[in-house]
Amino acid sequence: MSNTEYKFEGWAGFGPDSVEGKLKFIEYEPKQFAEDDIDMKILYCGICASDISTLSEGWGELKDMWPQVVGHEIVGEVVRVGSNPQNGIKKGDIVGVGAQCDSCLQCHYCNKDKENYCSKGMTGTYNGKFSRTSEGSKSYGGYANYWRGPSHFAIPIPKELDPAEAAPLLCGGGTVYSPLIEHGAGKQATNVGIIGLGGLGHFGVTLATALGAEVTVISHSARKQKDAEELGAKHFLITGDDEAKAFKGHERSLDLIICTSNAPDMNMPAYLSLLRPGGNFIFVGIPEGGQVPTIPLFAMVMGNVHIGGSLIASPQTLKDMLQLVADKKVKSWIQKWSMDKVNEAVPSMIAGNARYRYVLVNEKNGGKL
Ligand SMILES: NC(=O)c1ccc[n+]([C@@H]2O[C@H](COP(=O)([O-])OP(=O)(O)OC[C@H]3O[C@@H](n4cnc5c(N)ncnc54)[C@H](OP(=O)(O)O)[C@@H]3O)[C@@H](O)[C@H]2O)c1
Ligand SMILES: [Zn+2]
Ligand SMILES: [Zn+2]
Repeated sequence: MSNTEYKFEGWAGFGPDSVEGKLKFIEYEPKQFAEDDIDMKILYCGICASDISTLSEGWGELKDMWPQVVGHEIVGEVVRVGSNPQNGIKKGDIVGVGAQCDSCLQCHYCNKDKENYCSKGMTGTYNGKFSRTSEGSKSYGGYANYWRGPSHFAIPIPKELDPAEAAPLLCGGGTVYSPLIEHGAGKQATNVGIIGLGGLGHFGVTLATALGAEVTVISHSARKQKDAEELGAKHFLITGDDEAKAFKGHERSLDLIICTSNAPDMNMPAYLSLLRPGGNFIFVGIPEGGQVPTIPLFAMVMGNVHIGGSLIASPQTLKDMLQLVADKKVKSWIQKWSMDKVNEAVPSMIAGNARYRYVLVNEKNGGKL
């Protein structure tokens, strides 16, 4: 189908029950190869909570976008380049692709290394449609054997990094690194809070620590306290079901809070009480079901605190993060699953068992379990 000696095959969902271990292995038609595209033989792919919220339709119906091959923390070997490869990519290189695989590459934001906020909209690595080339073709993610897409969004993985550990950095790591940098973690933001110790949250701790910040983890139980300390956190707050009580005595102790939690109901005035005047509360987690916290106007005005959000990371930000990870020898805490066991791995991730990121290993392609 794809005019190559290899086939594009992957684990596809056909409906919201696919997260219950019902992904099916199928062959599909990738986008038409463009001169700035690459083909990658996939070795590793992380499982992000966004994969699950997409498949479960927790963020909205997929309609004509079924079937869906998700996965946007992809690392693999380049097996084909066109005449116009970006990022210096050559055949045989190990590269990674995160949650975005295309944008217009021409607008103000694309020209300022903010492709994730492209004015024409970004193309997601899955559940997206290409428009710059191969207009209308669907994008397919990394629970698969091969990936095809624009080389602009394929990031060379530094040689010092373990490619399996690099995979979840491409969405999970970048998504927290981007607001950490934007809001001065380790600089003007000396004290950083991370809400939720999951895949994103654990990178929040390691990356904020690597940037020189003092980190407080805010978790809903005591279960992960020892891990948080091992990851580098200096403080651990347990919310239980009463945030106001949990935060007594910790008012105005943080400059920046990154919220990676999926929790739909949060006592926002209590969280904002943790911020110093001028502080920022940044959402990256997105609960399912459209339920979001209401705006706590009084707490914002009285405390001079700001609430914002942040979407993934641009290619340049991903490159900067990977360099920091290599320089400071930051470890990803991953657990590997054979990609053939994806129908066990996804339900286990939903059950909250990951410590802290599951990475699917494509053993047939040479990925190492
Ligand atoms: N903005 C973006 O660009 C972007 C990119 C990637 C992912 N995301 C979103 O970020 C969120 C986190 O993703 P992830 O992959 O890190 O997920 P994850 O590994 O499942 O971690 C989520 C953490 O949230 C906490 N939590 C609190 N209440 C929860 C609840 N009711 N249900 C589930 N978790 C709850 C848990 O930490 P504790 O046990 O410590 O409380 C849990 O470990 C998801 O909403 C995901 O879709 C956003
Ligand atoms: Zn993701
Ligand atoms: Zn653009």
